[in-house]
Amino acid sequence: MTEQFSTPYEILGDAGVKQLANAFYDVMDELTETAEIRQMHADNLDHIKRMLTAYLTGWMGGPPVYQAIKGTVCLTDPHEPYRIGPKERDQWLLCMDKALERVGASDELKNMLKQPMFQVAETVRNCEDSTPKNQGANIIAVS
Ligand code: HEM
Repeated sequence: MTEQFSTPYEILGDAGVKQLANAFYDVMDELTETAEIRQMHADNLDHIKRMLTAYLTGWMGGPPVYQAIKGTVCLTDPHEPYRIGPKERDQWLLCMDKALERVGASDELKNMLKQPMFQVAETVRNCEDSTPKNQGANIIAVS
């Protein structure tokens, strides 16, 4: 009989969630397509890797590690300083897709995560569009 898993956390375990979060930021660091969201982050990604591991552990059905650290699982405040439109959301999701590939996630796990991952990234989105690259005082001078 094949084993039935009910949560992504059951499939990945602590070590797998950590591997995924680490791979996620390694991918973000490497891909040129995601340079815009990479530059929003600190140079050193060690802290954010730990925070994403903590967040995903609870979000995937494991112990509420992030909640224990922060007292909430709300992602609005930590993202408030950044302009996150559809483009940034999609860059984030691209990193997650590639990270899932990198850790050798099964099709079952990828299917389980697809819709909820989109949903959580969509919840983090806080504006309709992205800041145009050439926005700023000089645009007045040159136009
Ligand atoms: C939608 C596109 C997203 C962008 C562009 C984005 C970007 C960022 C940035 C710039 C930070 C601050 C990093 C730093 O301090 O160096 C951050 C923090 C964080 N992000 Fe995101 N994020 C996105 C979506 C998400 C999603 C969907 C999740 C969870 C599933 C998530 C989880 C976190 C966590 C846990 C932190 C740390 C918050 C804390 O310090 O308590 N992010 N994110």
